[in-house]
Amino acid sequence: MRALVVSDLHANAEALRAVLGRVRRKKFDTVICLGDFVGYGAQPNQILDTMRTMHGRKVYVRGNHDRVAAGLDDANGFNHAAKAAALWTREHLSPVNRRFLRDLTVGPVLHRSVMLCHGSPYDEDEYVFNVHHAAQVLSLFNAPFILFGHTHLPAVFSIDTDYNVRGFAVKTDATVRLEEGRRYLINPGSVGQPRDRNPAASFVLFDSEKRTAQFFRVPYDVSKTQASIRKAGLPDVLAQRLLYGT
Ligand SMILES: [Fe+2]
Repeated sequence: MRALVVSDLHANAEALRAVLGRVRRKKFDTVICLGDFVGYGAQPNQILDTMRTMHGRKVYVRGNHDRVAAGLDDANGFNHAAKAAALWTREHLSPVNRRFLRDLTVGPVLHRSVMLCHGSPYDEDEYVFNVHHAAQVLSLFNAPFILFGHTHLPAVFSIDTDYNVRGFAVKTDATVRLEEGRRYLINPGSVGQPRDRNPAASFVLFDSEKRTAQFFRVPYDVSKTQASIRKAGLPDVLAQRLLYGT
């Protein structure tokens, strides 16, 4: 399998456009999305129209913002800005996109040798930030590759047969070779709201046969996305943070 792996698009159509432009000449047979298609941003229908109609096999899981925007949960666990955006999204989704969000599969999903989830395999809302937590996940689940999102931070954790765990953040474009004898927990970072102080959209091309994860960062027109957030009347902090990648 050679897959385009995206996560945390957060209704940022300009960022997704830049990602798809970057991979236009690249080969992949599968599109994987690890959730949070919507929330924070003001372009939910553009994102969902694009993701619903992607070519190739699509393997998608739901994120916590998708759950709330679809009306399957209240927004009480969200901060003010996230809540405002989720409620705004609910009111602006087209019927077909609302249905799509409601019907998204809750992770974990096992697709061939790859497990997909939003937060962690046992909790959609759980953040996996460090090697200790990664070790716990990799000890409990046996899949050779687990792909996750939610933190908005590109990272690779791995474990060998003696339970030695290591992990690192991926700061720039990089090809990570996935060693035989190790199992991996990989986060592609966020397309629509990166939080590692690099505002460029983040994604991965994952090749299970060649055992590589290629990380990419793609700049996009942040000002256009900011304008759409302001025009929608969403909290200004949601526009400001995109400029700093926070
Ligand atoms: Fe997210």
